[in-house]
Amino acid sequence: MLTEFLSLLCLGLSLGFEDEKKNEMLPKPTLSALPSNMVEHRGNVSLRCQSHFQNVTFMLGKLQDSGYRQEQRSTGHEAEFLLTHLEPKDAGMYFCAYKTMVSQEWSEESEHLWLQVKDNDDGRGAPAAKKCKII
Ligand SMILES: *[C@@H]1O[C@H](CO)[C@@H](O)[C@H](O)[C@H]1NC(C)=O
Ligand SMILES: *[C@@H]1O[C@H](CO)[C@@H](O)[C@H](O)[C@H]1NC(C)=O
Repeated sequence: MLTEFLSLLCLGLSLGFEDEKKNEMLPKPTLSALPSNMVEHRGNVSLRCQSHFQNVTFMLGKLQDSGYRQEQRSTGHEAEFLLTHLEPKDAGMYFCAYKTMVSQEWSEESEHLWLQVKDNDDGRGAPAAKKCKII
């Protein structure tokens, strides 16, 4: 009973009843991190967003920063957002969406991807690493 209730609730939320601008026709894309979602301090990562459609505009957003937004057009059905020189502040939950020429509306958002930036590993202990260990 509870499970049924929860899945109905989740369905309602994922259809975006609270945000009518979302396009219910576009299935959510898949977001993955290459080579890994665990990145060295000052390292690079590529966040790949894949949709079922070609020739779309992809966007990358960050849950913790509503002002964060990258967009990229692609003639294929995926786009790679390269993030370089990662700092601890870049860690967090990322998601992507896309829109087609026809829809002009963003698709449902992908699952959130947790990007982790490892503590400084040069052996000297960066301020950010110390801060984390006090907690
Ligand atoms: C990260 O990307 C930058 C810019 O593309 C490049 O100069 C640098 O060598 C890359 N670093 C690593 C560790 O791949
Ligand atoms: C992709 O979209 C552009 C418009 O931005 C259009 O001119 C082009 O024909 C489209 N290509 C395909 C393969 O649909």
